[in-house]
Amino acid sequence: MNLEEIMEIDKKHFMPVYSGRYPLVIERGEGVKIYGKDGKVYYDFLSGIGVNALGYGHKKFVNAVKDQIDKIIHCSNLYYTEAQAELEKKLAENSCFDKMFFTNSGSEANEGAIKLVRKYYKEKAVDKFEIITADRSFHGRTLTTVTATGQDKYKRPFTPLPAGFKSVPFNDLQALKNAITEKTAAVMLEPIQGEGGIYPADREYLAGLRNLCNEKGILLVFDEVQCGIGRTGSLFAYQEYGVEPDIITLAKALGGGIPIGVFMAKKEVADAFSPGDHGTTFGGNPLACRAASTILDIILEDGFLESVRKKGELFKGKLQELVSKHEDLLEVRGLGLMLALELSENLSAKELSMELFKKGFLVNAVQEHTLRFLPPLVIEEEDIDKLIGAIEESIE
Ligand SMILES: Cc1ncc(COP(=O)(O)O)c(C=O)c1O
Repeated sequence: MNLEEIMEIDKKHFMPVYSGRYPLVIERGEGVKIYGKDGKVYYDFLSGIGVNALGYGHKKFVNAVKDQIDKIIHCSNLYYTEAQAELEKKLAENSCFDKMFFTNSGSEANEGAIKLVRKYYKEKAVDKFEIITADRSFHGRTLTTVTATGQDKYKRPFTPLPAGFKSVPFNDLQALKNAITEKTAAVMLEPIQGEGGIYPADREYLAGLRNLCNEKGILLVFDEVQCGIGRTGSLFAYQEYGVEPDIITLAKALGGGIPIGVFMAKKEVADAFSPGDHGTTFGGNPLACRAASTILDIILEDGFLESVRKKGELFKGKLQELVSKHEDLLEVRGLGLMLALELSENLSAKELSMELFKKGFLVNAVQEHTLRFLPPLVIEEEDIDKLIGAIEESIE
C-alpha cells in the first residue's frame, strides 16, 4: 500500500480524533533514525512522544524482548512471574517507594493513583477526596484523568465530569494554599509540564509544596509519565528537585515502546489498598516487565544518565544561541532531553515542524507557538547539530 491508499483507509475506518497527521508511513527505525516506506530517512526528535528512550534496534533491549517472547508473553496476575518481581525490585531499590502496581498506560497509572488517594482517606475514615492539579497540566484521556487535566479543551466535550478536581496556576504556591479546603486529599502535579509546553516547576515551589502538604496532611502525587525514566538526566525528575512525593506515576519510556505504566507509593500509603480494590488483565505481564527491567538496566549503566544530562545542556545551549540570534525565537525551556523552543506570534510551530519534516527531522508542535523536543536518550551531539542547522535554515 502507498501513502495515499493508507490515508484513504484511515480516513474511512479510523475515528477522526487525530488532525494533521504527518504524511509519512513509518516502516522501521535504526538508532535515532526513522525510515519511511518511501525510503526517506528522518532524525527522530520526538521518540514516539518520549517513549523510545533507546531509539530503535538497541541490541540488548531487542534481544531481551525477543527472548521473553519466546518464553511467555502474558499469563495474567493470577500467577507470579520472575520478570515482574525483578522489575519491582529494581524500581523499589532505585526510588524512594516501597510498593507499586503495573498498568498499560500513563492514564491508567494516574487513574490508579487517584483511586489510591481516595482509598487512603477512606481507610482512615476521613472525608477528604478533592485533588488539586495545575493549570496547563495533562494527566490523560480517561474521564477522570481528563478531569484532573488543567486544560479546558480536553474536557469541555465530555461533561458532566467526575467530582473532586480543581486546578490552580502552576508555580504559584499562594494560589495552591488558597485552594486547599478541609476536603483536600492530594495535590497532583507534573514536575515538568509536558503537553502544556514544557514548563519545569521552580525548585522553591516544589520544596514549599512538600512542606505545605506535610503541614496540612495532604498527599503529594507526581505525574512523571513524561519527565520520568532518565529524561531529565536523573532516573526520576523528583530526584532533580530533591523533593519526594508520596505517590509517583510513570509510563512512556518505562517500556521503551512495549506498553507499561506504573504507580508507586510509600508503604504507609500503598497499604490503604486491600484485595479487590484494584486490578488489571494486561498490566505487568512478563513481556512488558522484562522490557521495562531491561530499560532500567541500560539507563542505570555507568555514565548513561550523566550523558543525558550533558547532551541536554549542550542541546539547550545551542537552542539558546539560536534565540539570541533570531527575534522570532523567544525562549528555551526544559531540563535534560525534555526541551521546548518558544516561537513568537509570527511563527507557527506546526508550520515550522512541517518545514523540519521536509528536511528530515521529526519534531512536535506541542502548542501553537511551541516546538517540543523529546529525542531518544541515545541521541548524539552530531544529530543535535544537524537539527540546529535545519531550524536556522527554516526560520531564515
Ligand atoms: C504527564 C502525562 N501524564 C499522563 C499522560 C497519559 O499517558 P497515556 O497517553 O499513556 O495514557 C501523558 C501523555 O502524554 C502525560 O504526558
